[in-house]
Amino acid sequence: MQGLPRRLAYADPPYPGNAGLYVGHPDYAGEVDHAQLLSLLSRYDGWALSTSAAALPQVLALAVAQDLPVRVAAWMRGARPNATARYPVNGWEPVVYVPVPSRAQGERRVDVLAHGVTPLTTLPSRVIGAKPPAFCRWMLDLVGATAEDSFDDLFPGSGIVGKTWELYRAAAHDASPATAVEHDGSAIAS
Ligand SMILES: C[S@@+](CC[C@H](N)C(=O)[O-])C[C@H]1O[C@@H](n2cnc3c(N)ncnc32)[C@H](O)[C@@H]1O
Repeated sequence: MQGLPRRLAYADPPYPGNAGLYVGHPDYAGEVDHAQLLSLLSRYDGWALSTSAAALPQVLALAVAQDLPVRVAAWMRGARPNATARYPVNGWEPVVYVPVPSRAQGERRVDVLAHGVTPLTTLPSRVIGAKPPAFCRWMLDLVGATAEDSFDDLFPGSGIVGKTWELYRAAAHDASPATAVEHDGSAIAS
């Protein structure tokens, strides 16, 4: 079902308190002001923001202070193999989001993804925190993206999110079974 384009966005900034991991990257600009970021995201029709489980309370507090109708989805990525800590090891990542309505009758979207992380070794532009294509695809579904919409990736890093969006749109325009199988982006990187 077609309709007016909606403006959608995804933000994958460094976790609050972790910006230092990206010192030396061309887009590094210190800690990201999440209040400002939420204010920017609120200008979109639908959006998603990845953050850490530890930072979730503060991000939600900022969203509530701005009266944003946010929901929380969960990416169960599993614990990193070499993590040691005095507190429980973190094996999931929250996605704070505002969805747009589905365009298709009966379309089913789910707010949890179980998919492990493997390094995107075939992607030369990979950065710390680069998302797997399956995550990108799930996040686009979660927000409600369709080929008619526009989509901004605010923290592109490796560029995998934008590449997945291009495949997502191409698959929607070409509904052949072969394309439908490939459109999760796994052909780009693994
Ligand atoms: C978690 S990574 C994004 C990963 C990306 N979604 C992907 O899948 O490849 C965060 C990105 O934000 C960039 N960054 C760091 N500090 C920033 C800042 N203050 N403003 C904008 N970008 C920043 C980093 O260099 C990095 O590319």
